[in-house]
Amino acid sequence: MSSPLRLGIAGLGTVGVGVVRIVQSHATMLALRAGRPIRITAVCANSRKKKRGIDISDYAWEYDPVALARRDDVDVVIELMGGENGAAKALVEAALKNGKDVVTANKALLAHHGHALAALAENHQRSLRFEAAVAGGIPVIKALTEGLAGNRIQRVMGVMNGTCNYILTRMESAGLPYDTVFEEAGKLGFLEADPNLDVGGIDAGHKLSLLSAIAFGTKVDFDSVVLQGIGAVSIDDIKLARDMGYAIKLLGVAQMTGRGLEQRMTPCLVPETHPLGQLQGGTNMVVIEGDAVGQIVLRGAGAGEGPTASAVLGDVMDIARGLRLPTFGQPADTLAEAPAAVVSTGAPWYLRMVLLDKPGALAKIATILGDSGVSIDRLRQYQHEDAHAPVLIVTHKASSDDIALALERFADSGVMVGAPVALRIEEV
Ligand code: HSE
Repeated sequence: MSSPLRLGIAGLGTVGVGVVRIVQSHATMLALRAGRPIRITAVCANSRKKKRGIDISDYAWEYDPVALARRDDVDVVIELMGGENGAAKALVEAALKNGKDVVTANKALLAHHGHALAALAENHQRSLRFEAAVAGGIPVIKALTEGLAGNRIQRVMGVMNGTCNYILTRMESAGLPYDTVFEEAGKLGFLEADPNLDVGGIDAGHKLSLLSAIAFGTKVDFDSVVLQGIGAVSIDDIKLARDMGYAIKLLGVAQMTGRGLEQRMTPCLVPETHPLGQLQGGTNMVVIEGDAVGQIVLRGAGAGEGPTASAVLGDVMDIARGLRLPTFGQPADTLAEAPAAVVSTGAPWYLRMVLLDKPGALAKIATILGDSGVSIDRLRQYQHEDAHAPVLIVTHKASSDDIALALERFADSGVMVGAPVALRIEEV
């Protein structure tokens, strides 16, 4: 058997502990599958004494991540510290420059510096792998770069923040408002230290920007992701959407169009009969559409010790076997600068509004929609006791510009109570 592959792990939180557990408990199986032993030689974290429930006494200890990257007895640095700049970035750069391969779970780092780091890895003939950064245990990077490499990818969609999916599905099942479930998610430890990373759509937006770079051969462009969080999704909308046959999800969509690259991470309606509409709790789902394969649906745990460590080990095993792929599936200097699409592909829209219940109010709204180029597909006015009529409209396909124009005109219509809600219905 060949020489062992020696791992240095930076960060011994939930995922780091998971990696240690797998390497220790599956040592024989890993060695047989890789054709060489997989060994941890050094670890690095803030506290050496913290109780972690694992035995790390055989491993060298470093307090300084960059020192870990310089060790002669480390072949692969596993970066599990997190953060888009600072120590994580310094560690990854030092590791690559010192001839180490790098495996990371750090989506923020790659969303902001992915292209430069991929180029650095290639200049040093090293691997930079990040399966654990996107959708936890789902091997979606492998699916895109390997299994689906023969396809021109048409669209990538996904529910890639488990916390948001937990909040939205719990709101519906318990009939609770957003604020209550948000608080509950905090108590259960589901929220990131900065909760806006979750509920503001940023974490999921990071992941989408990475998938879109691989899918379309473009430079990672997180800044062009249209981001909208779930904070404004109401229990009323969840119930009314269901009444029309839809579920509301924080859905990421990336597609290349004639107008440029579309990247959105926004609350959307999806048909309740599609696997995306049926996704419950903290689970993730990625849907990939390729010209040859059609639609593929991948579902699994998006976070947690076992699933994320499983993804890290997938990358480690590739390196152990000598499988070296460019970080984003093709050489960094061939990744294109894609213009961001300003107007998104047409879609049906869900419009909820409250109208003054007086003659001609509904006609006025219908006229505004018609004048804005938006056609009505379905319309429901719900029973009400006061002079305020709740109205729900599902439109035929319309551009985001036409919807924006209609919303602007609604505001001056004189028949609307409060602001309308407009949510895109993603056709899946
Ligand atoms: N906070 C993320 C989620 C997991 O809820 O899915 C890490 O990306």
